Amino acid sequence: MERGSWLESGELDEELPWLGEGGGEIGVRARVMWVVEGAALVEALAPAAALLRAGGLVAFPTETVYGLGANALDAVAVRRIFEAKGRPAEDPLIVHVLGLAEAQALSPGFPELARRLAEAFWPGPLTLVVPRGPSLPAAVSAGLDSVALRAPSHPVARALLRAAGVPVAAPSANPFGRISPTRAEHVLADLGDRIDLVIDGGPAEVGVESTVVDCRGEQALLLRPGGVSLEALRAVVGEVRLAGAGEAEAGMGPQRSPGTMLRHYAPRARLVLVVGEAEQVGEAIGQAALGLAAKGRRVGLLLAEEDRARWAGEEDGQAAGGGSGPAPEQTAGPPGGPRWRVLGSLRDLEAVARALFGALRELDAAGVDCILARDFGGQGMGLALRDRLSRAAEGRVLRLESQEGPSAAAARIERAVEGP
Ligand code: TXA
Ligand code: MG
Repeated sequence: MERGSWLESGELDEELPWLGEGGGEIGVRARVMWVVEGAALVEALAPAAALLRAGGLVAFPTETVYGLGANALDAVAVRRIFEAKGRPAEDPLIVHVLGLAEAQALSPGFPELARRLAEAFWPGPLTLVVPRGPSLPAAVSAGLDSVALRAPSHPVARALLRAAGVPVAAPSANPFGRISPTRAEHVLADLGDRIDLVIDGGPAEVGVESTVVDCRGEQALLLRPGGVSLEALRAVVGEVRLAGAGEAEAGMGPQRSPGTMLRHYAPRARLVLVVGEAEQVGEAIGQAALGLAAKGRRVGLLLAEEDRARWAGEEDGQAAGGGSGPAPEQTAGPPGGPRWRVLGSLRDLEAVARALFGALRELDAAGVDCILARDFGGQGMGLALRDRLSRAAEGRVLRLESQEGPSAAAARIERAVEGP
């Protein structure tokens, strides 16, 4: 077969040198492409770009999470994204562009507010909702007259955009309602049988999705907290309104972005998010975990570095944290005690964000049936963490009272795990 002709036929040439393993297995369709740091990326990604232009689905790394890309100008290709993800047609996609000029070309009347935010945060983890121009098919925006635009900073994403020469529509590359992928392996495991190519660019640097801001009004409206903090947005544009509930509840309720319904980022296990004073939360989760394990539940914990001492009796093994077994003072406890993942320090929420989605997947894979997650505060990246965790909890968010003792709090947590 002549090189390049496979693009038209939609088939992949087994002999292309950039194709790695990862095809071949029964039920797996996607090929994997590795990119080496320092490579001439735009040239290296030419086959992937050609695949995109031919209407294919290409998963690629961004600094936030992996995206499932298609040519945004091609309504048929865009529809394939919705099919592959099982995503409802009313949930609009983000269109990725190289920068401000490309964004303005897709959005006549690009708001001044959006320009200021783009200049401050692009390329980076910020998505701007602006008027949709006629060159973009309505399907990309689920029929809305707006479009969400983002210029990613990941070098592979940028090289792919440059090589493709078209805007790339890309939601997170996970089946609808499930945990976003922060590694190429996650994409392969979830969608490998439904897409054409996965570009492996290593683990995502930010680890949670972009911040989404509606720029069409007088004031910026935060639709989804993410990689750019609310504080950083306010430093640039002054006031930023919060969609949904008020400030105190920010990140803990339904938001106005279409498709951002409560069930999202869901692990298989039943997750409860515990909010309160840092020390108190750690105590309460620890007690509840032992109580639940004693009742035969397979418990998973998402903890901070500061909680580690409570579980110090066990080897933790990995840099990313994690381990299993009863706490030191409970060594006579039941076998199959709680498993935990230490995400990072309460003082380093960027590290916590990087670890979050992978840890959720690991606890799921470990077969836990419930997960107790601590809150990381509402400041900075903490707001995005709270948003993702409360969605994963499907509303099971427990706020501890300031005077509530650990036993009472633990009992409430256990009831939330066991409840309907
Ligand atoms: O970091 C990210 O944003 C990743 C990477 C791949 O760029 N993408 C991502 O896409 O998270 P997705 O589809 O999982 O989330 C898109 C979010 C949804 O909350 C959606 O409702 C919102 O953006 N959105 C998209 N278009 C919109 C629009 N026209 N108006 C309001 N919200 C919109
Ligand atoms: Mg998503």
